[in-house]
Amino acid sequence: MSRLSPTAILRNGLRFLFPVAVALTAYLYLYPVLNSCAFPLPPTAPGHNADTGRTAFLETAKRHWPFATTDNSTEAARPPAPFRLLALGDPQLEGDTSIPIDYLGVFPHVKSLFRHVAFQTHHDGLRHRMRASLHDVVDIFFEDTYNLAESLRKRIDLFGNDFYLAHIYRTLHWWTLPTHVTVLGDLVGSQWLDDSEFARRADRYWHRVFAGGERVPDDVALYPADEYDLSGYLGAANDSESVWTRRIINVAGNHDIGYAGDINEDRVARFEDAFGKLNYELRFELPITDPDVSQTIFHEATNPHSTRLVPELRIVVLNDMNLDTPAASTALQDATYAFINKVINTAAAVEFAGHFTLILTHVPLYKPAGVCVDDPLFEFHDHDGSLREQNQLSAPASRGFLEGILGMSGDVSAPGRGRGRRGVVLNGHDHEGCDTWHFVNQSRPVEGENEWEVRRWRQAVKAGVVGREELPGVREITVRSMMGDFGGNAGLLSIWFDETAWEWRVEYATCPLGTQHLWWTVHILDLLVVVGGLLSVTAAVLGIVGIDVDRIVVGATMGLWRLIWGGTSVPARQGKVVS
Ligand SMILES: *[C@@H]1O[C@H](CO)[C@@H](O)[C@H](O)[C@H]1NC(C)=O
Repeated sequence: MSRLSPTAILRNGLRFLFPVAVALTAYLYLYPVLNSCAFPLPPTAPGHNADTGRTAFLETAKRHWPFATTDNSTEAARPPAPFRLLALGDPQLEGDTSIPIDYLGVFPHVKSLFRHVAFQTHHDGLRHRMRASLHDVVDIFFEDTYNLAESLRKRIDLFGNDFYLAHIYRTLHWWTLPTHVTVLGDLVGSQWLDDSEFARRADRYWHRVFAGGERVPDDVALYPADEYDLSGYLGAANDSESVWTRRIINVAGNHDIGYAGDINEDRVARFEDAFGKLNYELRFELPITDPDVSQTIFHEATNPHSTRLVPELRIVVLNDMNLDTPAASTALQDATYAFINKVINTAAAVEFAGHFTLILTHVPLYKPAGVCVDDPLFEFHDHDGSLREQNQLSAPASRGFLEGILGMSGDVSAPGRGRGRRGVVLNGHDHEGCDTWHFVNQSRPVEGENEWEVRRWRQAVKAGVVGREELPGVREITVRSMMGDFGGNAGLLSIWFDETAWEWRVEYATCPLGTQHLWWTVHILDLLVVVGGLLSVTAAVLGIVGIDVDRIVVGATMGLWRLIWGGTSVPARQGKVVS
């Protein structure tokens, strides 16, 4: 049989494509492993930096090793951070609002043309009727056809996008073993959706993109109070099986409920119904097992002079879209402010150590132009002047975070010397992502309103402004979007407790998948290989029972050629193939 027979070409093609498909598929399905992704690992000695590279990766790998031993040999695994948050930014599920035929209909100009020629429309004479009809003919080709093609492309794109996002969540969740998961707002792509489309996207969110994920139940998402129930404990040996690993802590974004000028009761109600409450807190305790250490903790009767509290991680989920004015609903804005005040009033006094606040919100804090990709921007509605869009919070609203929730101050004579509470702020919105350090210089004489400064995290570390007593500050991490256009990013935030300093510590890493084109390429290639393989096997089986597939294929091709081009002008090369 010739080397150029159809079955041989297929076989040679497969011989080349098969290894490529296997390699790319392995890469796609093992990308966190091959990219050495892992939650930052607490250091072995206090005061050292966390391990983010190879060691963290190897420790994660050990936890996947099926024959892991529990004996204390030299190979014993180092304990991971007790709180490991898989943080995802702005999935922005799109839907029918981006599909032209869904809102325009299929070939709308054909119907219109029909009405013109069937004299169902009114025109002042034949010239106008012909003119309108010809317009429609042009639009059928240059509008309708284009819209149809675009709609088909978009529909395929949306279908793949859901699975692409799902792949990120599922694969990372499997490999990195988070204890908690959050999605930092803009779960869906538009605040203007009607209720049925909103419900469809919520359904895709829960059943396709975050399949296996659960809402945080309303009776667990608590309003801050002096007497509160714990949401759970951290640091258990089997913490990767806790119910919290399945729960998704959703944050509301501007595309979910709107900016201040759009937020209303209906949008809030449907969001809370589908994704969970807008504002709440969760409190997790880290039990101290060493009796000598637990003796040092504050106790009203036995140890009243200690400033050490039982280690606790407080998660504050906050809708910060209506902190700035003017808001359409002042009632909802008041609710947000009341919540923040309650968060402040129920926090431990700043003089005490051991509590840590993780703020999860959507719109980032104020930063001067040039620090992150998004610069300050405010736009207002024409009709009522309410807030239409913002890239960041205003400077006064940001102070509410820094001086209110975290209790920091530029004034050394403030409670706790103005050093405030330990915490970290996580948000989304700016799809590019950003990692910054906000601080106030207590030795600088106060001049004017905004004494807060902000630097990129790395620059702040380099300049030595992080962790200095006279420069109280907080890290703000804006998580880069998980959308394909931003590389399918995910954030890995570790928080652990340093018993020596009696403080919580934080480290952050990222794990991008790459654009959605990789996902498409791999699956199309796999499909080609599977179909090609099946055809090849079928041809071989038919060959065994005496059916010459090559002859049939070549014959059929020649027949088709004649049918289309007529005559017997089969190209000479093809004749050679058969001989
Ligand atoms: C803080 O302010 C003091 C006094 O103005 C100044 O000398 C110092 O350089 C400032 N520190 C930083 C990190 O900006």
